[in-house]
Amino acid sequence: MGEVDEAFIQAVEHRPKIAVTEAEGIPLINLSILNSNPPSNPSSLQTLVEEIGDACHNWGFFQVINHGVPLERREKLELASRKFFAQSTEEKRKVRRDEVNPLGYYDTEHTKNVRDWKEVFDLTVKNPTVIPASHEAGDNGLKKIVNRWPEYPSELREAFEEYAKEMEKLAYKLLELISLSLGLPANRLSGFFNDHTSFFRLNHYPACPVPHLALGVGRHKDGGALTILAQDDVGGLQVKRKTDGEWIRVKPTPHAYIVNVGDIIQVWSNDRYESVEHRVMVNSEKERFSMPFFLNPDHNVMVEPLEELITKQNPAKYRAYNWGKFFATRKLSNFKKLDVENIQIHHFRIKEESSY
Ligand code: OGA
Ligand code: NI
Repeated sequence: MGEVDEAFIQAVEHRPKIAVTEAEGIPLINLSILNSNPPSNPSSLQTLVEEIGDACHNWGFFQVINHGVPLERREKLELASRKFFAQSTEEKRKVRRDEVNPLGYYDTEHTKNVRDWKEVFDLTVKNPTVIPASHEAGDNGLKKIVNRWPEYPSELREAFEEYAKEMEKLAYKLLELISLSLGLPANRLSGFFNDHTSFFRLNHYPACPVPHLALGVGRHKDGGALTILAQDDVGGLQVKRKTDGEWIRVKPTPHAYIVNVGDIIQVWSNDRYESVEHRVMVNSEKERFSMPFFLNPDHNVMVEPLEELITKQNPAKYRAYNWGKFFATRKLSNFKKLDVENIQIHHFRIKEESSY
């Protein structure tokens, strides 16, 4: 990335501390009972559901091990990703995203108007994926977006498609556990994902000469339902601890996945499970790779607190919003060029005084 452009420099209050105190980490949850044969007994399932519920409530983040995703599939895609990013910028820009199709390569993402120290390759999980044609409220048109495939490495497509199937399976298992943990039937949320708009990102964070001034990704919350992240062994992800607002490092656990609740689960659960801020520190010596899978519902889903969770004492905290428009506003609008805040769920929050 050459000389350091001012666009990468974080405001003083958002700069990462290089020495972070080691503290209690996010929960580590063993999913082995889901893959056991014969199926495990109901009491161990109940224990797992409680662990998931506590993790979602107390942290919004957890790691899973014995998740059932074959390691070869993950390694094949990690290798393909490294090969892709090792090419020249000119080569990578042949599959760059544009105004019409938000999928492909780009190296100019901004989070809260500061440029992120990273380059990415975005993919959609359903090919094609149907989303609104624009973020304009009056425009009901839809469009199909399709993946772009680079010439090199040729195995990227197959590696991704195989891996994405595994991510979908794991995501549905996690959704079931989350539903159960909210006291709902296991399949309560599955109907929102028939034609899901999930997407997938290959992230490359190059080594950075100013890791104390820049971030790989600035602080943000994920806007979808659930994120499942594979990170390499370098580390750099930090999660804002709910109890005291401290930034806590997520230490890499080999072969584990990091799972976090997105804004949609926050709304569905009426704030019982909050979507938590996180960010990525960069490193002056090592480059880092990560691969998040963002589970998103169908574009036509109206996101609102689940009616079973609403009572007189706990009235709905959000009014319904259309997921497709929310997504299109983030992905397709030109907010990045304007100095405005991107769309956020707090824009749909019902003010205390107007609640019943
Ligand atoms: C993201 C994200 C974390 C990471 O892409 O939304 O939070 O470790 N990534 O790459
Ligand atoms: Ni994120």
